[in-house]
Amino acid sequence: MVSASSFLSATLAGFAAHGVAAADCTRDILSTAASAYLAGAAAGKPPVNLATTNFTYIENDVALDISKGILSAPISIDLNRTFLDTDACGAFMEINAASNKKPYVLLVRVFVDAASSQIKDIESVVTKDGDWAFNAAGHLSADKQETWTAIPDAKQDTRAVLKAAADAYLDSWGDGTVSPPFGNPCSRIEGGSSTAHGAASGNTCKMPQFPQPFKITNRRYMIDPVFGAVDIFNNFPFIDKAKPDGTPSTNLYRIEGGKIRYIHELTVCTNKNCGR
Ligand SMILES: *[C@@H]1O[C@H](CO)[C@@H](O)[C@H](O)[C@H]1NC(C)=O
Ligand SMILES: *[C@@H]1O[C@H](CO)[C@@H](O)[C@H](O)[C@H]1NC(C)=O
Repeated sequence: MVSASSFLSATLAGFAAHGVAAADCTRDILSTAASAYLAGAAAGKPPVNLATTNFTYIENDVALDISKGILSAPISIDLNRTFLDTDACGAFMEINAASNKKPYVLLVRVFVDAASSQIKDIESVVTKDGDWAFNAAGHLSADKQETWTAIPDAKQDTRAVLKAAADAYLDSWGDGTVSPPFGNPCSRIEGGSSTAHGAASGNTCKMPQFPQPFKITNRRYMIDPVFGAVDIFNNFPFIDKAKPDGTPSTNLYRIEGGKIRYIHELTVCTNKNCGR
């Protein structure tokens, strides 16, 4: 016999778990939003399906009118790597436009309102000539040699493992006691240069220590366990002489079995090559 009050509380719990809960953010919804962004970038237009209220657009940590930034003119896209984070309800994309008249490499995040499927926020790190070690053609040729296929379900790392591996790399720059879980080999693309080629660079992602104290702050994460992909937007201190407290930067990782396989860094400079 079920009492009225226990029936009522069970029913309310049911609504909370299913009916009234926020709409599910699915890979389909995110994939559609990512494609809309890519189509917009290729056409030099905002993506279709932007939220009409409360839409925010941020490029290199600066809030802009979307029509004034990278989407104001068409770009020819040579390569995109697109990942989906259903927890954050966002897509993240690496876009290489090496053959564009003005070459770019960017890392874009598109956040979606799951209930309406509308894009509600876009944030990007956009690099071009003069940014740290920038060379879009070099980035493209190194990137094309990498393998970023989907990882079988049983071999996927948890979000926690992926995040910890990615954080350890950034932590190690300022703390020599941190030993990131580098794969062997591990290769890094930094701007347009790559550690993947030749024994001289050792096929390693190990970084030298920066002057102490050194801490990478304002880390913003996107994670796609299906592709072992993590991206950290952050403010990279020291490197840009005009912004010693931190300049917009992103590190995109491929992690397999808990080990870091690839890292792609894009870092924005105030002056040519950050004044170095
Ligand atoms: C827009 O943002 C404001 C402030 O956060 C909030 O009060 C309002 O409900 C939002 N509107 C919509 C349509 O989401
Ligand atoms: C993005 O990459 C996917 C997979 O390689 C490709 O099918 C698609 O055409 C690319 N989109 C654009 C706009 O270049």
